[in-house]
Amino acid sequence: MPLRQRQEVQEVPRGKPLNPASGSLPNGRPRFFSLEGVDGSGKSTQLALLATALRAQGREVVTVREPGGTPVSDAIRKLLLDPANPIAPAAELLLFSAARAQLVEQVIAPALAEGKIVLADRFGWSTLAYQGYGRGLDERRIRELFAIACGDVWPKHSFLLDLPVAAIAGRLQAGDRSADRMESAGAGFFERVQAGYRAIAMQHPERFTVIDAALPQDSVHSAILTSLGPLLAGG
Ligand code: TYD
Repeated sequence: MPLRQRQEVQEVPRGKPLNPASGSLPNGRPRFFSLEGVDGSGKSTQLALLATALRAQGREVVTVREPGGTPVSDAIRKLLLDPANPIAPAAELLLFSAARAQLVEQVIAPALAEGKIVLADRFGWSTLAYQGYGRGLDERRIRELFAIACGDVWPKHSFLLDLPVAAIAGRLQAGDRSADRMESAGAGFFERVQAGYRAIAMQHPERFTVIDAALPQDSVHSAILTSLGPLLAGG
């Protein structure tokens, strides 16, 4: 869909306080799902397991990871995650949004139009959690950017892999690479992001399944697959 048309799809209410329950989000596309959670919550592993399981059922699945997934979005990802780049919170918000706009236009919207299932490792909820709750940016502005970047392309349902912040620190330290710019933001930041995710999921119960990410990998996978079944029924 051309950008101008997408901008017109959604009206964003003005002047609202931070309240993700304000209901201004699109309804969600029936075959579009996202995994959300703080860094180290196991999203990427679960996304791969889920894609494999759905493909084994004969379904066509496209997976994406945010930020990234197109040449422009990948270049923005490098900028965003490089610890050598100090980035102002507003610039950070715009860069994540720009990466998303390109991914929606080039990959997600076309895949959905072809009837494929799209599984996203993060989508707009990450921006509300990280830039809204984490950085303290205004939710109204963030939603305006959703309208510009995503139009009516939004996940039908999201799975929040919920992990205590203490466990996250352990998982990140266990990794064999140094922390990226976002991961270096400090424990307080991740506490706010984590609390933000929980608040968002509570305010949108119809859009979220919260899963205890401390459970064994197989159990997390089964929980996701079980809740996805009815959502995909008939699709
Ligand atoms: P990535 O290595 O993909 O982390 P993860 O495997 O945990 O998804 O890095 C993406 C980082 O960007 C991660 O710290 C979350 C952050 N992020 C935001 O702050 N806002 C956003 O809108 C998105 C999509 C990601």
